[in-house]
Amino acid sequence: MVMNVNAPRGTIDIFGEDIKYRNFIIDTARELFSVFNYQEIVTPTFEYTEVFTRSIGEGTDIVQKEMYTFEDKKGRSLTLRPEGTASVVRAFVENKMFQEHLPVKLFYIGSMFRYERPQKGRMREFSQLGVESIGTNNPMMDVEVIWLLNSLFKELGFVDLVLLINSIGCSNCRESFVEDFKAFILPHLEKLCPDCRKRYTQNPLRIFDCKNRHCRKVLEGSPRVLSYLCTDCREHFEKVLGYLDVLKIKYRIDHSLVRGFDYYTQTIFEIVSYQIESAQNALGGGGRYNNLVEQFGGPSLPAVGFAVGIDRTLMLLKKLCIEVNLNENRPRIYLIVLDEEYSSYCLEILQYLREHSYTCDTNYNAKKLGTELKWAEKGGYDFSIIVGEDEVKTHNITVKDMKTRNQYRIDWSTGKKEILTLLSRDTSPSRR
Ligand code: HAM
Repeated sequence: MVMNVNAPRGTIDIFGEDIKYRNFIIDTARELFSVFNYQEIVTPTFEYTEVFTRSIGEGTDIVQKEMYTFEDKKGRSLTLRPEGTASVVRAFVENKMFQEHLPVKLFYIGSMFRYERPQKGRMREFSQLGVESIGTNNPMMDVEVIWLLNSLFKELGFVDLVLLINSIGCSNCRESFVEDFKAFILPHLEKLCPDCRKRYTQNPLRIFDCKNRHCRKVLEGSPRVLSYLCTDCREHFEKVLGYLDVLKIKYRIDHSLVRGFDYYTQTIFEIVSYQIESAQNALGGGGRYNNLVEQFGGPSLPAVGFAVGIDRTLMLLKKLCIEVNLNENRPRIYLIVLDEEYSSYCLEILQYLREHSYTCDTNYNAKKLGTELKWAEKGGYDFSIIVGEDEVKTHNITVKDMKTRNQYRIDWSTGKKEILTLLSRDTSPSRR
């Protein structure tokens, strides 16, 4: 019986061309992480639920509605990670990384899980790459992570992204803001959605996360958190903006930016594209979170970081037809063997080429020269090597340059190295 099993709603299979885009994003990020001196960390895909509820915040959408939480066989509550920051901070504290030279600068790449209503650019399993820099309150570090985020998208070839920035201050500044904000909302309470009415009492700042049209309308003209910053927070924010100016990184102050996590303090930012519709236009975002390490039982250490959505970034790269440099400068070779009898000869050739690190493949099934040459063309191979009866008898190979259509005959017994010379003559990128 044939099983009728599809991928779960909100998940995708990534293959073919998309894998090339994905690897391009990840490779570019890895290179930059190394340039900025960040070290990789791999944390578990699931954590005790408390890791997320305590850090992200009980009143947030993520904790209230979007977590994949389950009990293990011993009745312990576990959750598939909805984001990376909480896990990294948990690992930082648990492994006493605070004893190392500070700041500790970490990066991660992996799957995250949120039970959201799936739509274009919003999935239930998605990949993020991110950084967390723990152990300094220097505004230069806020700028370093923003600079890294900005450089990543620049390296990927984006030109039209907008960097939004705001500061939500520390708990002191927020207290007086929340007081005035609540007074502002009160007369409009009836117009808010049921969720926001709950947020009003539990966690008023979260009203800013709401996508509901009516709630957004109410927020127009609301007090601005930026006007409530204490002297320290205002000076910190001014320095951040000043350093961004030094680096000529363009930004736009967005007073309505609050970001949907309770752990943030002071600087928050997002990188958005207005070429993607609506709510899914953020490709990455982050901010400072100065209380989280202590909340996890570590020393009081400030931190800042960001995460980028790999799937959304991939979608936009493709949509904007950004040519990706796939670093495939070495020629790719397709070995066409016209009869299974010649398999041993074919293996010898493949072994030689692969030992010399050339990407090569052969035809395991069909054996028609015309069909195989067409495939070599379509598959973006730079050279075909043809092995037929004549070649085997004379111990030769025929090499066809797929671009120029020139053919060369090489004596395999005596002139093996000739193939390497021939291949190195053409180092132009593969046709995709
Ligand atoms: P976030 O804004 O929730 O931040 O996620 C970062 C990025 O992940 C988003 O900008 C978006 O591109 C992508 N993303 C989020 N949810 C989805 C989804 N359902 N489907 C597809 N892509 C999605 C964080 O996660 C924070 N931990 C960032 C951070 C690090 N803050 C400080 N350090």
